[in-house]
Amino acid sequence: MGGNTAESTPLQEELEALRKENTELKKKILELEEDLEKTESQLEVLENMCFALEKEHAFAHEQLQNRSKELGDRTQQLQKTLREVGHQYLQLQQTQAQLIQSEKMAGLGTLVAGVAHEINNPTNFLVLGIHLLQKELKNLSEFLLSLLEGGDADLLNYAKQQVERCFRTLNNIDEGGTRIKTIVKDLRTFSRLDEAECKSINLVDSLESTLHLIQTQYKTSVQFVCDFQCQQELECWPAQLNQVFMNLIVNACQAIQVKQKQTNDETPGLFTLRTFYQDDWFVIQFEDTGCGMTEEVQKRAFEPFFTTKSIGEGTGLGMSISYSIVEKHQGKIEVASEEGQGTTVTLSLPLTIPDDDLPPTV
Ligand SMILES: Nc1ncnc2c1ncn2[C@@H]1O[C@H](COP(=O)(O)OP(=O)(O)OP(=O)(O)O)[C@@H](O)[C@H]1O
Ligand SMILES: [Mg+2]
Repeated sequence: MGGNTAESTPLQEELEALRKENTELKKKILELEEDLEKTESQLEVLENMCFALEKEHAFAHEQLQNRSKELGDRTQQLQKTLREVGHQYLQLQQTQAQLIQSEKMAGLGTLVAGVAHEINNPTNFLVLGIHLLQKELKNLSEFLLSLLEGGDADLLNYAKQQVERCFRTLNNIDEGGTRIKTIVKDLRTFSRLDEAECKSINLVDSLESTLHLIQTQYKTSVQFVCDFQCQQELECWPAQLNQVFMNLIVNACQAIQVKQKQTNDETPGLFTLRTFYQDDWFVIQFEDTGCGMTEEVQKRAFEPFFTTKSIGEGTGLGMSISYSIVEKHQGKIEVASEEGQGTTVTLSLPLTIPDDDLPPTV
């Protein structure tokens, strides 16, 4: 047995060692299990954190999207407001231009009408007096010549020559008087103070009167040609349309003078004033062989206060005012121009303006 005990000792030792190892292993397992538990709980915390972060991220993302949509809406609104402000600014400029021009024209109209009235009375005296003188001279000369008839031939001849000279002088004065009357008539037609209201007038008469008044100022630099293919009575605001005619004719004459300066060539330029029908429109064309417009000028010609002329020469209102007056007559105004060659402005007026659309006075 003692041998057995001695033999079993290493086994026992081995067993003991195994037991120890087992205990150690169990301890390690326990430790590992503990670690695992800790790691698991840490993992859980991390997972929770992750979840919370994801939630926060989703919330932040949603907020960002809402914010950028709001910003987009706001930008659109701002752009719309900006466009509206721009439009209102343009309208304001247009109104200002209209006010300045109508005030200027009203002042000019009153002045012109006053001068025309003052000249008209003495001119009537003059013309009537001449006609009376012509009649009386005729009677007197007949009487005188009948007295001298059959007498001294030289005396008779001399008397005849004197009488003829008197008639010639009187005819010259008569011609002058008639010219003054025409000018007065043109001034009156142009100012048309009595016609601030809408009424039916002959547009060609208005065109001619306006042209006569302007012609005198440009007769050395411009050759004027009228090609009136039709006469037209039209319901309109005569004083306002006269403003348009004047603006367009003066622009054409000025353009011709600009070209003469540019090219150092004094040959008179050509201005043609035309009227014709096109479908339901009465068309008036103002054509000149002046300096023409660049594309940029053509684009901006109707802008209030846009001018290529020097200070004092142009205010840049003529075209914009003309545009609004024509628009109020339900008409159209178009410009065709070639730089260095000339310009044609075409004004088309409807033959009838529907009553509902009749505009208020400018
Ligand atoms: N027939 C034309 N030929 C060439 N350019 C023209 C003609 N008509 C208008 N323009 C151009 O258009 C611009 C604007 O014309 P608008 O009549 O409005 O003003 P303006 O003639 O300069 O000044 P205002 O008429 O107020 O005295 C002119 O300055 C000119 O450059
Ligand atoms: Mg002008």
